[in-house]
Amino acid sequence: MTKPIPILLDGDPGHDDAMAWMLAQSSPLLEIRGVTSVCGNQTIEKTTYNAQRVMTLLGIDAPLAKGRTGPLIAEHMAAPSVHGESGLDGPVLPEPAVFPVDLPACALMAKVLEESPEPVTLVPTGPLTNVASLLLTRPDLKGKIAGISMMGGGVTHGNWTPAAEFNILVDPEAADLVFRSGVPITMAGLDVTEKALVFPEDFETIRALDNPVASVVADWLEFFYGFHRKLGYAGAPVHDAVAVAALIAPELFHMEEMYVAVETQGTYCRGATIGDRYHLSDHAPNARVILDLDREGFVGLLTKAAASYS
Ligand code: BDR
Ligand code: CA
Repeated sequence: MTKPIPILLDGDPGHDDAMAWMLAQSSPLLEIRGVTSVCGNQTIEKTTYNAQRVMTLLGIDAPLAKGRTGPLIAEHMAAPSVHGESGLDGPVLPEPAVFPVDLPACALMAKVLEESPEPVTLVPTGPLTNVASLLLTRPDLKGKIAGISMMGGGVTHGNWTPAAEFNILVDPEAADLVFRSGVPITMAGLDVTEKALVFPEDFETIRALDNPVASVVADWLEFFYGFHRKLGYAGAPVHDAVAVAALIAPELFHMEEMYVAVETQGTYCRGATIGDRYHLSDHAPNARVILDLDREGFVGLLTKAAASYS
């Protein structure tokens, strides 16, 4: 059997972050070495509490550390319209049996990288604040990062402004630093994640698995779909799970290498990720951008992951 890929989860759970973590925890191909919370869809207090509850529900046995209180430079903006006031509204979750260690998120990341004999893959599914803080404070550890499989951006459009996707818009300076770092990036942006749809009939398949995690996942999907249905989506786009699925089953995805720049200025385009799809600039590619997926295969992965808790 091949050795599992060591990963660090970094997110702002969040319904789709939570489902991404469910997928990671259930896969024998991945080994979660640490978890960090980031200020994103809600305040750092709320996303950390949600991380604690999600880790408790899923039985993730890894150190958790709390992220910075805000983006590197920008003012924080939350997304209560998508995830609710708690940041993870919907089903009742267990009270935490997991508590943050006494280290800032970037210090836990550094510790995990230092202690790991092999390079570790980062899986950020929120703003890139913690990853940028790691690169700023410990540039010497860059070589210990195998790659970054992240959800954020989009090379054709945004979802929080016409040009910018939420995770990148919350902390564009952090994203800019990460994309210019030279660390290999796999970018699951809106180009693919808006097609990573779980349809209402799929919710019922997951609910019918009839285990405590599957029931919560079905409720999360219902809740998440509630917001997206009003925008015309045919299902719940489980954005963040694509960043994990791309590690487990890359054959389900169509990826193209290109240079991606992050716009930090601009009257209309702050937070946009500009993908040089036709290699028009002098820049060598810095990212593998995921553009398409086998939707049924993706839903199959999520369903299998939920079934593993039976
Ligand atoms: C991203 O924003 C958050 O609301 C989701 O969890 C996802 O990470 C999608 O734009
Ligand atoms: Ca997220």
